[in-house]
Amino acid sequence: MPLEKITDNVYSVGAQHFDRELFDALMPLHYGTTYNSYFIQGTKANALIDPVEPEKIADLLKNLEDLQVKKIDYIINLHTEQDHSGGTPFMLQRWPDAQLVGTAKVAELAELHLHLPKEKYMLVKDNDKLELGGKTLVFRSIPFAHWPDNTTAFLEEDNIIFTSDLFGSHLACGSMYNDDVKLQIRAARDYFAEIMMPFSTQCAKYTKWVKELNPSIIAAAHGPLWRNPSDILDKYEEWTGDKRQRETVIGYVSMHSSTQEMIQRLILRLKDRNMPYTLYNLAAHRDSMSVAVGEMAGDLVEAGGLILAAPTVLVNPHPACLYAAAVVNTLKPKIKVAGFMSSYAWASKAEQFLTTGLSAIKAETLPVLMVKGAPTEKDFERVDEFANAFVDKMDELCK
Ligand code: FEO
Repeated sequence: MPLEKITDNVYSVGAQHFDRELFDALMPLHYGTTYNSYFIQGTKANALIDPVEPEKIADLLKNLEDLQVKKIDYIINLHTEQDHSGGTPFMLQRWPDAQLVGTAKVAELAELHLHLPKEKYMLVKDNDKLELGGKTLVFRSIPFAHWPDNTTAFLEEDNIIFTSDLFGSHLACGSMYNDDVKLQIRAARDYFAEIMMPFSTQCAKYTKWVKELNPSIIAAAHGPLWRNPSDILDKYEEWTGDKRQRETVIGYVSMHSSTQEMIQRLILRLKDRNMPYTLYNLAAHRDSMSVAVGEMAGDLVEAGGLILAAPTVLVNPHPACLYAAAVVNTLKPKIKVAGFMSSYAWASKAEQFLTTGLSAIKAETLPVLMVKGAPTEKDFERVDEFANAFVDKMDELCK
């Protein structure tokens, strides 16, 4: 990503990874990602915030060279996950006199993940200031957005807040300046699903605080700048809140079409009841487990309903469905209603799946619909009843 000026003596110097397809070996990326890094030049000293993923260190070094940086005074780690801190040892090789800056938690985790002695850090606490000369950074921890060490730095004179992963988006568009806000919000929603959603309570608190701070720019660790911060702050308020839309996400697996036929009947009834839905086949392709489940997770940020359906494989639901449930259970979307349908050949324990597989989800659950063998007309009528009960519950809980 090219060197870009943000405000006077504040620059974006990070890297983009436009062809990255998967993050954390879990999250499908549609628009690549960026590892943002920021350089701030004061009259007395300069500071670099977050020295990028090691694989992209050359991009950072090139931007610093283009900026004719001769020395770095402070390297600030706002977070020690390696996509932001992994370049730190390389930077210390290049500028051995640079002073590392971070919270005590950052120093502790940097020792663990980067094998950097924690004594190398100049420790900062909430409200501590780093004076660079006409540029003052004020630190505040934002634990569990999404690691214990995430930290923000507020640049007082420029009214810019550097928020680490909070408010990030996996979106590489060649620049830190993006005019397609709708696309950025979509990328931020998918990012929120897999990074922030399990920590909605903490994120709601930090969103309120940043709103009160009223920055002119939010500069996150991934994705373009938010030049109108309310674009993302309003969305975070919505996503971390309790209201959910009257929309349903359906994830299904089918081996010999019994489950597929049940799903076809289900969506006819959902249509009759004007229930919007998105449908994901969790095992259509070799990479469906990560791709379909990742996309499903994005939809679960806003949707109020989830229906999973799968055949029984050796008494349990098909493994692709178990994987989807494991991801959903970990991400803890605030869905209101959950349902599960299963077909089986001779024996099944799938009936217990909703209570065990989605144990962390606080949603109303419907009785599991089990169909033995190929579905008969009587079974399809049971699917109708299941669909109607599901929509009734959604109408009650998603207003
Ligand atoms: Fe983008 Fe938690 O690292």
